[in-house]
Amino acid sequence: MMRLLVNIDHVATIRNARGEGYPDPADAAKVCEEAGAGGIVFHLRGDRRHIRDDDVQKLKSSVTGILDFEMAASDEMMDICLETKPDLVTLVPEGREELTTEGGLQMSAVSDDFKTRVFPPFKENGIDISLFLDPNPKDIEMAKSLGADAIELHTGTFANVTNPEDQRRELQRLKIAAELIHDAGMTVNAGHGLNLQNLPVLIEHVPHLADISIGHALISKSIFWGLEKTVHEYLKIMKIH
Ligand code: PXP
Repeated sequence: MMRLLVNIDHVATIRNARGEGYPDPADAAKVCEEAGAGGIVFHLRGDRRHIRDDDVQKLKSSVTGILDFEMAASDEMMDICLETKPDLVTLVPEGREELTTEGGLQMSAVSDDFKTRVFPPFKENGIDISLFLDPNPKDIEMAKSLGADAIELHTGTFANVTNPEDQRRELQRLKIAAELIHDAGMTVNAGHGLNLQNLPVLIEHVPHLADISIGHALISKSIFWGLEKTVHEYLKIMKIH
């Protein structure tokens, strides 16, 4: 079943712009869940540019649905995540200068490290592992052999294309990847760059979608519509009532 996981990072961005204690990401998370979101995602970055350590604790104690801890697999983040015990950890590449996550993990570069250092403690603590990947069959096969529970397909390229031919190509890549992930027994998640315009197109063409992670466009729209109505509009598209 499809679920909407709202990424509340940019509620913290607004808070941090003035150094006051508001708006509180945990309050936003509560509104999203009450409006029908299946859970909440946050990305604790090494530079703490939005979500901070005390947000993580608050979210852990207040979120009632799925809590998805998005992070780079540094020792520092792993310690915090293992202490937090979220339902799901989504591992992403993280560049210091990037405005947002710029692409999926390159599995050939991280596979050995993930196998020995990263996966075992998460598995021992019962935390499901999702890997943020481009729709690339080779990466998906490597993720499967490591024992990943889920793959979050990077939808950013699809979201950014400007002509129909490129869009068709990207949708086809995502469709093939989703089928591969599903056939391999892993959960198909998706996220990045999704909004009210491109989400219906994605859902129409890509099968087996489970958790859809949406942040920037949703939080931006909520300035005009309020969070509750905005979440409802996304749920309508996803046919979740
Ligand atoms: N999924 C991952 C792995 C991400 O890094 C992000 C951005 O933080 C998102 C989903 C949400 O992307 P957006 O903010 O563009 O909706």
